[in-house]
Amino acid sequence: MPDSSAGDTGSFDVERCHRLDEFESAAAAVLPASTYDYIAGGAGDESSVRRNREALDRLLFVPRVLRAVDTIDTTRTVLGMELSMPLFVAPTAVQRAVHPDGELATAAAATAARLPMVLSMNSSVSVEDVAAYGGAVLMQLYVSKDRGHTQFIVERAIAAGARGLVLTVDQAGLAVRPRELRRPLQLPDGVEFVHLPSDPASRGVDGDLTWDDVDWLRGISSVPVVLKGILHPDDARIAVDHEVDAIVVSNHGGRQLESSVSAYDVVRRIADEVGDRTDLIVDGGIRSGTDMLKSLMLGADATMIGRPISWALAAAGDRGVRRVFDILRDDFESAMRLCGFASIDQIGPDALFPETD
Ligand code: FNR
Repeated sequence: MPDSSAGDTGSFDVERCHRLDEFESAAAAVLPASTYDYIAGGAGDESSVRRNREALDRLLFVPRVLRAVDTIDTTRTVLGMELSMPLFVAPTAVQRAVHPDGELATAAAATAARLPMVLSMNSSVSVEDVAAYGGAVLMQLYVSKDRGHTQFIVERAIAAGARGLVLTVDQAGLAVRPRELRRPLQLPDGVEFVHLPSDPASRGVDGDLTWDDVDWLRGISSVPVVLKGILHPDDARIAVDHEVDAIVVSNHGGRQLESSVSAYDVVRRIADEVGDRTDLIVDGGIRSGTDMLKSLMLGADATMIGRPISWALAAAGDRGVRRVFDILRDDFESAMRLCGFASIDQIGPDALFPETD
């Protein structure tokens, strides 16, 4: 179990933070510049990072009133798991580069908040150690040419109790990320990618993956399979034809394709295309409960956050991550109440401006 005083000084007063961006400035003050850039950066001109925020900021609420909203129920069931609110922890690589407790601190905080954590294939803590907290864990996969290794990780994750597999499909090749090229991430001593093959030559993602590989993965999995990184409605329809259990509509936090649409630009069309045949999760730029509510009004079933977890980890370890969840929960509940929704099943597009088709 993480010692919450191990990495941070314990002096950072998390209760002072009321917005997630306050954690980013705190993290910038303590992280090496190359680590900060690794997290904050994106592909090319970083327009896809900015677009995530622009798309969310463009959307406004047209609130409804007098709708009996004293008691708000934020719970939601996704992939058969009851979440305390519609939020997942996104897979982000090598969290021990950010804080000595790394993924253990995130798992402790997510478990306490009854929120599922997607563990990165590039994590610095094993799936067994993360699952030991007893919370809901899903294993993210990058499939290399060595399918035997992928199968080994799948078997380990399922044996450890993983509730699902999340195959990331938007990384057929690594994008050009100028910040990382200028100032490459330096891993602290003793921090490594614990799930990757030992031979560095076998580590890269197989750029030749096809829908047959999705069928293969479903064939070897006894738990739900999720595809992460779909933006085109036709790909969403094909995914549903291949019976995936959920789709993460995502531009990878703007880290893969420059000039990419955001999830929020397309999720309504995707929801229309797939109906209720699969769950839809969106990510990229979610920084508040109002962003979560907007996403659900657009047709998503749940949201995911990446960078704010790293910022909070850097600032205050698991205390920071717990505070992130508290801020989001209070904010989401308040946004639901003030828009006139007492429970998630009441959320619809009618209180959103501009109206979406
Ligand atoms: C990521 N992301 C990511 N995705 C994935 O499938 N596997 C991974 O290992 C990683 N690693 C990773 C590292 C870092 C530092 C970041 C910031 C992101 C993408 C991540 O899961 C998610 O899609 C985005 O982070 C969501 O956008 P926000 O919330 O960071 O804006």
